[in-house]
Amino acid sequence: MTETPDLFGPVKLGALSLHNRIVMAPMTRSRAPGNLPNALMAEYYGQRASAGMVITEGTTPAANGRGYMDIPGIYSDAQVEGWRGVADAVHAKGGRVFLQLMHVGRIALTEFQDGLEPVAPSAVVAAGQMFSPSGMKPHATPRALTESEIEAVIESFAQGARNAIAAGMDGVEIHGANGYLPGQFLAPNANKRTDRWGGSAENRARFLIAITDAAAKAIGPDRVGVRLSPGNPFNDIDDPDVEGTYTPVIQGLSGKGLAYLHFLDAKPAFDVIGLARKQFGGPIILNAGYDKARAQADIASGRADLIAFGSSYISNPDLVERLRQDAPLNAPDQATFYGGDAKGYTDYPALAA
Ligand SMILES: Cc1cc2nc3c(=O)[nH]c(=O)nc-3n(C[C@H](O)[C@H](O)[C@H](O)COP(=O)(O)O)c2cc1C
Repeated sequence: MTETPDLFGPVKLGALSLHNRIVMAPMTRSRAPGNLPNALMAEYYGQRASAGMVITEGTTPAANGRGYMDIPGIYSDAQVEGWRGVADAVHAKGGRVFLQLMHVGRIALTEFQDGLEPVAPSAVVAAGQMFSPSGMKPHATPRALTESEIEAVIESFAQGARNAIAAGMDGVEIHGANGYLPGQFLAPNANKRTDRWGGSAENRARFLIAITDAAAKAIGPDRVGVRLSPGNPFNDIDDPDVEGTYTPVIQGLSGKGLAYLHFLDAKPAFDVIGLARKQFGGPIILNAGYDKARAQADIASGRADLIAFGSSYISNPDLVERLRQDAPLNAPDQATFYGGDAKGYTDYPALAA
C-alpha cells in the first residue's frame, strides 16, 4: 500500500531528493546592481533554504534579455561567481536551488540593457508601463528577431544552463510563463511571424520547446523544469484559444524526463493540469494563492506533487516551519518588493528558536 503524500514529506524531483514538497516560487527583487548576484542575495536565499526547493528570481541568459532594473544575469564569469555564493548559501543549510532562466523579450526598457534594443518574435509593442527611476515608462517597441538570432537565443539558454551548473545550481527552470519571450512566441497577438516560428500552434510552441531541449541537452533533462501560465493575460498576452496553444506545448515537453512542470494556474482556461498529468510523466508543481489547507488538499489528492509559495516566502524565511506549526505569517510589504536594500528583504523575522 502506498502512503498518502504529505506536504512536509520527502519527494523525488528529477535528479534530486527533496526534504519536503514546499517550493519557494521564483521572484524578481531587483537587488542586483550591475546585473550581478551579490552577498545580500546569498543571505536572502540562504534564509529560505528549508524549502524543499528554492527557485531563484528570473535571471537573464542574454544581455538583451534584461529589460528590468537591476535583475541578475548568468552570461558572464562574474555573474557565475556571484551565483556560486547563492548556491553555496542554500546548500550549506541542506537546501536545493534551481535558477530561473528568464529572457524578457519585449517587456523591457532599453535603459536597463545598456541601450541594447529589446527583441521579440515580432515588432509588436506590449501595452503597459514599466518602473524606472525617472518614473513609469511605456515598454520599448521591440525589433523582430531574425531566424539566425533565434538560434543564438536558443544557444544562450543552453549556455545559461551550463553556467548555472558551473555556479553550483542544482538545475534551471525555463520561464515560459507570464508573457516573457517564450510566452510572446506562444501568443498570437505578440507573434505575427510567417516562418516556422509563427502561425500554427505547433510553430508558436517551437521556441519554448527548443530552448527547453537545448538546456536539457546541455545539463541533462532531469535538471531542467519549465514554468507555464496558460491563459494568463499578464504582460499584454491575448490568446483566444488557450487549449489549442497549450496542447502542443504539453505534448512537446512530455516524455523527455524533464525535472518538472510548474503551473501558475490562477485561472485555468481548460484542464491543462489534467492533460499534463496524463502526458507529462513527471512531477507537477502548482502555484498561486495557496495556503496550507489548499496545499495539503492538492498534494493529498495527487493534483500536485509540490506547491510553490510566492509572496508568503518574501516575508517568511521559515515558511516551512510556520506552516508546520500553524504559526502566524508575517505580512509582506509591497513597497519593498522591488529594489532597495536589506529592508523588506533579509530582515523579516523567523520564529523565535
Ligand atoms: C515580487 C514578485 C516578483 C515576482 N517575480 C517573478 C519572476 O521573476 N519569475 C516568475 O516566474 N514569477 C515571478 N513572480 C510570480 C510568483 O512566482 C508567483 O507566481 C506569485 O507570487 C503567485 O504566488 P503566491 O500567490 O504564492 O504569491 C513574482 C511575484 C512577486 C510577488
